[in-house]
Amino acid sequence: MPQLIVTTRSGETSTIEADDGLTVMEAIRDNGFDELLALCGGCCSCATCHVHVDPEFFGQLPPMSEGENDLLDSSSDRDRWSRLGCQIPFTGDLDGLKVRIAAED
Ligand code: FES
Repeated sequence: MPQLIVTTRSGETSTIEADDGLTVMEAIRDNGFDELLALCGGCCSCATCHVHVDPEFFGQLPPMSEGENDLLDSSSDRDRWSRLGCQIPFTGDLDGLKVRIAAED
């Protein structure tokens, strides 16, 4: 199973394994990281799954939709590596992907 490396808001890093086909948000949420609220369940309407993606992987992600871009604009912690975890399918070619959970808005 592909591995995802997650850093929490307090700076703790853990490696989790996730089924191919989940989104990054689902992989994080299903592994008990309760600071990633994912309130809308993944339908791109809440921005509580905001993560910062390691620059090394950023270019491999699918393009950002206008809706995702607009939602990220509502976050004070947005930077150039920001994405919504629910909009990133976690496929095997992203094995080793590193993300950091963004600050709470
Ligand atoms: S879970 Fe709501 S936008 Fe991602």
